[in-house]
Amino acid sequence: MEFNQAARHPLAAESVAAGLRGQLRARSIAARLPADIPEQRLADQGLRADLAYELIHGHLMLDGNARLNLATFVGTWMEPEALRLMGECADKNIIDKDEYPQTTDLERRCLLMLADLWHAPDPSDAVGTSTTGSSEACMLAGLVLKWHWRQRQLGADAAAAPRPNLVMGANRQVCWDKFCAYFEVEPRFVPLGPDRLHLEAEAAAAHCDAGTIGVVGVVGSVVDGSYEPIAAIATALDHLEQRSGLAIPLHIDAASGGFVAPFNAPEWIWDFRLPRVVSINASGHKYGGVLPGVGWLLWRQDALLPRELRFDVNYLGGVTPTIGMNFSRPGAQVVAQYFNFVHLGRQGYRERMALLEAIACHLADQLAVLPPLRLVSHPLGQLPVFCLELEPRVRFWSVFHLSDKLRERGWLVPAYTLPPDQQHRAVLRIVVRAGFSRHMADQLLDDIVRAVAWFESLTVAMPEPMTHCSFSHL
Ligand SMILES: Cc1ncc(COP(=O)(O)O)c(C=O)c1O
Repeated sequence: MEFNQAARHPLAAESVAAGLRGQLRARSIAARLPADIPEQRLADQGLRADLAYELIHGHLMLDGNARLNLATFVGTWMEPEALRLMGECADKNIIDKDEYPQTTDLERRCLLMLADLWHAPDPSDAVGTSTTGSSEACMLAGLVLKWHWRQRQLGADAAAAPRPNLVMGANRQVCWDKFCAYFEVEPRFVPLGPDRLHLEAEAAAAHCDAGTIGVVGVVGSVVDGSYEPIAAIATALDHLEQRSGLAIPLHIDAASGGFVAPFNAPEWIWDFRLPRVVSINASGHKYGGVLPGVGWLLWRQDALLPRELRFDVNYLGGVTPTIGMNFSRPGAQVVAQYFNFVHLGRQGYRERMALLEAIACHLADQLAVLPPLRLVSHPLGQLPVFCLELEPRVRFWSVFHLSDKLRERGWLVPAYTLPPDQQHRAVLRIVVRAGFSRHMADQLLDDIVRAVAWFESLTVAMPEPMTHCSFSHL
């Protein structure tokens, strides 16, 4: 049949021939692959590069399709020109500032642009660094908060010194749990409420005391995409200072929102316009539009980064200043960030965020009318992210079943329980990112509508889902 068609149409003939060539090549490579390639120890003899490629390529084919992943906030798409630049920079180590002064210069320009975007009083006096992502940036920001707190304790009675603590909403991202565990700081989580899934101003201030190294405000909560009321939190901390003399600094974890809020909510005040905000982190690899991994951290002024936490090395040629936790890191992502700044400019980011918001709102509004579903957050004026829960009357299935069902079509839409004190509620979260089109949104809608109709037709309860997560660490 294929051969007959091929004979009639030259283009069909070409593609059939190419397909056959591919199959033959794969078969002959498969035949040459040793059957006993060890997976858990180094083989005595290596494989030829083309065979190693085919082996690993085949293995990776079972990975998901990144564009259908609505779980992650991290970029999965860039323009081909950006990919070309990244390829050209694949061998550049950002720490080798003496060898790659041009790349270093692009990092400096990115930092200045971000300081301007986030309204540092004097962008040339702001200080910061690129990082591997927001997690590294948060560790550094937390360490600087702790360093300043300790300075404030000097001279106080050591025996009476409180244990350092960090105040944040229970909706924090796990990097803050890591920071507190790694650097011996008590995490002070402010519980969530039924109508409030993030930090609230008065509750934040009420959790502070003499041991508080800082408060973390989140612009773009990982739980529901919402922005925390940063200005109100700053005001509550001002009042606390007037009442008690406690001067608590505010760090803004804008991992996602740092590249969204300036464009979809430019009038909303959350950044260095608030004098209490000492530092801000953001992930370039989230809504900054870069593939993983690049993050950014800025302090509002140079004096806020202590000399003791800056390091210089002289063995790379010249004197290389380093203020990150990592040493070697890829330079390509920083170059790609600069590409986005040059390529998109303010207008391009504005248009991109408006489009993502429109697609997310379209999805949320269409899903909200399905009777068993209920919106927990709405993407208008926050991240292009939202979550849904099921009406309490639904007994036979859960959001975990819906998440599993969507996987059958390739969509990755995570379901999870909310943090304390709302842990009895399970939600489904949808993250809309660059590369996710209105057409894809409509396909997802069709699949959800079909899945919900199927679940609603059940007359007995679904068994427990096999697993809520297909991945486990050793
Ligand atoms: C609010 C928030 N902070 C920090 C992080 C950690 O960011 P990264 O993945 O860039 O390390 C995330 C990641 O989702 C986040 O949403």
